[in-house]
Amino acid sequence: MEPFAKDRVALITGGARGIGYASARNLSREGVRVAIVDINGDRVKESAHKLTEETGTPAIGIQADISLESDVAGMVAEANAAFGKIDIFLNSAAILADNLFLDSTPAEWDRMFKICLTGPMLCLRAILPGMVERNYGRVVCMASDSARLGQARLSYYAAAKGGVIALVKSVAQEVGRSGITLNVVSPGATNTELRQEREASMLKQMGPEKYDRRVKTVLKMYPAGRIGEPEDAAAMITFLLSDQASWVTGQVISVNGGFVMV
Ligand SMILES: NC(=O)c1ccc[n+]([C@@H]2O[C@H](COP(=O)([O-])OP(=O)(O)OC[C@H]3O[C@@H](n4cnc5c(N)ncnc54)[C@H](O)[C@@H]3O)[C@@H](O)[C@H]2O)c1
Repeated sequence: MEPFAKDRVALITGGARGIGYASARNLSREGVRVAIVDINGDRVKESAHKLTEETGTPAIGIQADISLESDVAGMVAEANAAFGKIDIFLNSAAILADNLFLDSTPAEWDRMFKICLTGPMLCLRAILPGMVERNYGRVVCMASDSARLGQARLSYYAAAKGGVIALVKSVAQEVGRSGITLNVVSPGATNTELRQEREASMLKQMGPEKYDRRVKTVLKMYPAGRIGEPEDAAAMITFLLSDQASWVTGQVISVNGGFVMV
């Protein structure tokens, strides 16, 4: 079996950069037409253009904020208008908030949950009916090992990602008979702009000496001896989004160089 049947169409949120973009590139190389969606309108258009140029497969960039129901409806309509359907959905869009629980505010909680948990819920509500109708679908939502383990300074993020895991497992049970699989990919530290931005602010807060010690300590936690690259997570995501992965559903798969083994 070919990994992807002819004419597959994917929608990828947070696809302008990072793990979302690396996954879009893999699918595009396989001939999957991809609609990448991002809140950053300029970057998403630029990334879609780059994809089409590099792979020769048509890709479009759509600006949308996944925490807004009207934007989500608009993004699905635009993808359908361009490519006729959505067979594959990856939710990679997210934000990170690095703060102690006792220093965090309820307003920050609301923002985190709107983007990281309400966002995927809105997308699933908008995309799944078409998949049910066509009796085919592949879905991956991104979580984080911080949700599986808990992580100091990331309590809001970890809580929202824990919600993603529960949502995906529950929905997977409801739509399995419609040929739809839903899984979660849970990366460890991955070298994307999201992480680079957090590391830059840590360096500023800690100063070079303390920060250098932190980098060494982090590396010791990874049996593979390195943190991940976007392509590491994208390889697993690409498999789970393929036709071949029809018997994998409701799973949480860590891609983490052995950081946690659960
Ligand atoms: N990089 C890591 O170390 C790491 C670790 C664990 C989990 N993850 C998860 O993997 C996924 C991808 O992470 P990444 O490192 O590639 O992130 P990234 O920040 O590089 O990319 C995420 C993209 O999502 C977009 N986005 C943010 N809010 C949005 C919104 N409301 N609507 C639409 N788009 C929005 C951003 O503009 C950005 O382009 C995320 O869900 C993240 O939580 C990443």
